[in-house]
Amino acid sequence: MRMNNKTALVTGGGSGLGAASSLRLAEEGAQVFVTDISEASAEQVAKTIREAGGNASALLHDVTQEADWLRVHDAIAKACPTLDILVNNAGVAFSGNIEETTLDDWRSVNSVNSDGVFLGMKSCLPLMTKPGGSIINISSIEGIVGDPGLIAYNASKGAVRLMTKSAALHCAQSGYGIRVNSIHPGFIETPMVEAGLAAMGDAAEAFYERILAAIPMGHLGQATDIANAVLFLASNESRYMTGSELVVDGGYTAH
Ligand SMILES: NC(=O)c1ccc[n+]([C@@H]2O[C@H](COP(=O)([O-])OP(=O)(O)OC[C@H]3O[C@@H](n4cnc5c(N)ncnc54)[C@H](O)[C@@H]3O)[C@@H](O)[C@H]2O)c1
Repeated sequence: MRMNNKTALVTGGGSGLGAASSLRLAEEGAQVFVTDISEASAEQVAKTIREAGGNASALLHDVTQEADWLRVHDAIAKACPTLDILVNNAGVAFSGNIEETTLDDWRSVNSVNSDGVFLGMKSCLPLMTKPGGSIINISSIEGIVGDPGLIAYNASKGAVRLMTKSAALHCAQSGYGIRVNSIHPGFIETPMVEAGLAAMGDAAEAFYERILAAIPMGHLGQATDIANAVLFLASNESRYMTGSELVVDGGYTAH
């Protein structure tokens, strides 16, 4: 039980990587606040945790809204003295190259993937400075390498990679005892990837084969592969890591 007496907040916890991370942290003893723009899916995950004997609550939360962050912050502060772990996971996918992506597309992707992480770190720091803790920002391999058809997504995930390092340096210099790291998943089987493939129609099969050929390990990852990385960064086992980027991609970015 590596998370005994720890409190965690997981954004976008109602689906995919956020759901798997919430379940994994709870399995190891954390009290988990599962938040999502879909309250029903967050509640489903919290219910699964409670039915397995864990401790979880669901909160409606749009990460792009500062007022929502303050409401979530207040709900946590009322229930627990401190917050130990923040997983900034909520995100949206968007395909489009530099020519076809509009400014509105750009702003909507960046408001969730980039502004949401900024607001999360900013609003939760006061809850975390006393005991110290771990902030885990979910970036992507797309925050490290470029893709011609992902201009807005690349930019949003690259922003997460570097804002993580800036916040990590600030927290270390301030003596807060808060570590801040990013995780860079490769292609992981979740509803986001399934929806992306479905939207491609007839082109999906060829795309899928191309992706598989580019992954040295030869298969997509599972949500639990990322949940285990989250657990590691949340736990004391990663106590000397801050400002680092943990790549979990089956070798995709190794070549
Ligand atoms: N699946 C992958 O292959 C992969 C790879 C790299 C990075 N990622 C990143 O991992 C994170 C999780 O992705 P996933 O694959 O689990 O996707 P998913 O679509 O299964 O889950 C995303 C969750 O975020 C929630 N969400 C969306 N907008 C929100 C908002 N404004 N406020 C709060 N919640 C919101 C959704 O309701 C959903 O529950 C994302 O940041 C994604 O960019 C995923």
